[in-house]
Amino acid sequence: MANAKVAVIGAGNVGASTALRLAQLNIADIVMTDIVEGMPQGKALDMMESAPLLGIDVSITGTNDYKDIAGSDIVAITAGVPRKPGMSRDDLLKINARIIGEVVDNVVKHAPESIIVMISNPLDVMTYLAYNKTGFDKKRVMGMAGVLDSVRLRCFIAMELGVSVKEVSAMVLGGHGDSMVPLPDYSTVSGIPIVKLLPKDAIDRMIARTQKAGGEIVALLKTGSAYYAPAAAAAAMVESILLDQKQLLPCCTKLEGEYGLSDVFVGVPVVLGKEGVEKVVELPLSPEDSEKLKSSADHVKSTIEQLKECSD
Ligand code: APR
Repeated sequence: MANAKVAVIGAGNVGASTALRLAQLNIADIVMTDIVEGMPQGKALDMMESAPLLGIDVSITGTNDYKDIAGSDIVAITAGVPRKPGMSRDDLLKINARIIGEVVDNVVKHAPESIIVMISNPLDVMTYLAYNKTGFDKKRVMGMAGVLDSVRLRCFIAMELGVSVKEVSAMVLGGHGDSMVPLPDYSTVSGIPIVKLLPKDAIDRMIARTQKAGGEIVALLKTGSAYYAPAAAAAAMVESILLDQKQLLPCCTKLEGEYGLSDVFVGVPVVLGKEGVEKVVELPLSPEDSEKLKSSADHVKSTIEQLKECSD
């Protein structure tokens, strides 16, 4: 049987790191595309040359031609422009909307049966744009944000407590931006809620750091935004879908009444399997967290409106 196939659109920092991480999982052949001539081909060849040492046993190719994404089971979209210092994710709106519009038209043309995992920012709005432009079932268009935001919180909890990150789990809902909603009540260490292990001020500090975690990296790098953790998070979603693992992960998905929200793409826990987003899981939320989720969704909605205005 032929290997599964994953296309990674955009072979920059996030795209190339996603491709390498996926190749190391050995679950699919990988094709990377980019508009820069030779660059995806060069990176793919470089990765293939690392295969004997890294235990990679799938093919990795690079291309500038969308025809080569034909037959992809999953298309991970990382094309676009990353944030520069002082730039919010929403500032990227117009530039990336044009790029993503072109990318998804090509996905419809060349890989009409695929599942789309959006990674480009502003994430929730780009996921909406992909859904709207492709006409794909909502199960097949999702965004990577909550997995990244929650692994960042996991990391901060482990660092604060001086414990292994392995036993830490965390949940972050909402839009991918400063309005995201980390949920300490659903964040645990070996099953123990962190609210039983840490004082409120430490938890508040970690929540604030999680909300600004992308910006913290942008400020340090100065020339771009994070890519190792985003790539690992995107690969985890692809793995759950391709292997039908049915992992429960926070992902950006279209809500139709869940959490009292409709007609918006925002991060909530979902079950990811071979169909894509197979189920939205509704957690009971405190009135305060519920309000925060609503205002995060309102922020995404207003950015979607902004997007509609610039395309009018
Ligand atoms: N088609 C394909 N690739 C494109 C297109 C296009 N129309 N336009 C730009 N690209 C490519 C660029 O040539 C570049 O190689 O997208 C790549 C983006 O890579 P980087 O600039 O390194 O940006 P990166 O850090 O990978 O971030 C990409 O992911 O996390 C998000 O906010 C981030 O939206 C950004 C995206």
